Amino acid sequence: MARDRKHLKVLIRNRDIQKRVRQVAREISRDFRGERVHLVGVLKGACIFLSDLIRHINLDVSLDFMSVASYGKGSKTSGEVKLIKDLDTTIEGLNVIVVEDILDTGITLTYLYNVLQQRKPKVLKIAALLDKPERRIKDIHPDYVGFQIPNEFVVGYGLDYAERYRNLKDVCILMQADAP
Ligand code: IMP
Ligand code: MG
Repeated sequence: MARDRKHLKVLIRNRDIQKRVRQVAREISRDFRGERVHLVGVLKGACIFLSDLIRHINLDVSLDFMSVASYGKGSKTSGEVKLIKDLDTTIEGLNVIVVEDILDTGITLTYLYNVLQQRKPKVLKIAALLDKPERRIKDIHPDYVGFQIPNEFVVGYGLDYAERYRNLKDVCILMQADAP
């Protein structure tokens, strides 16, 4: 519908994303040299980042997924998080890296971090493709980060607005089209 029109402005090109994802994978490979890492992808937004990242990690890697819902649709979060899908296997004693699309207020990752920490992993780290530090209300920092971005709502490369735009190759700023 014309009334639903939105503008997309490229913020990070796919070529730059790919380059940075390879660097992050190299950092992880170096930090855990000789060890196994267990990646925990946070559905659904992190799936594209995760699938590129994992192919550049030069270690023994295993993979699992979790899904959480933060109440509120579209671009607003209400602050409550609920576990929708839990891990398939135990993480006790493993080097766990939670892979997330974006660290915004930090509510989601703080919740996940606490849930996973209780299960006694050997190490628990966070890898986020994007970090919006201006919006942070929880004291949580990613150990690996692709890009710090300004306080804009972004879509693409896995990130959505009401489930749309995940398939865009670039990370784009979503702007409301000017009236009329
Ligand atoms: P937080 O709990 O506020 O840190 O938000 C984390 C979740 O909100 C992310 O996993 C995304 O699903 C969503 N989110 C936050 N900012 C954006 C954005 O700019 N675009 C798309 N999703 C976002
Ligand atoms: Mg998400």
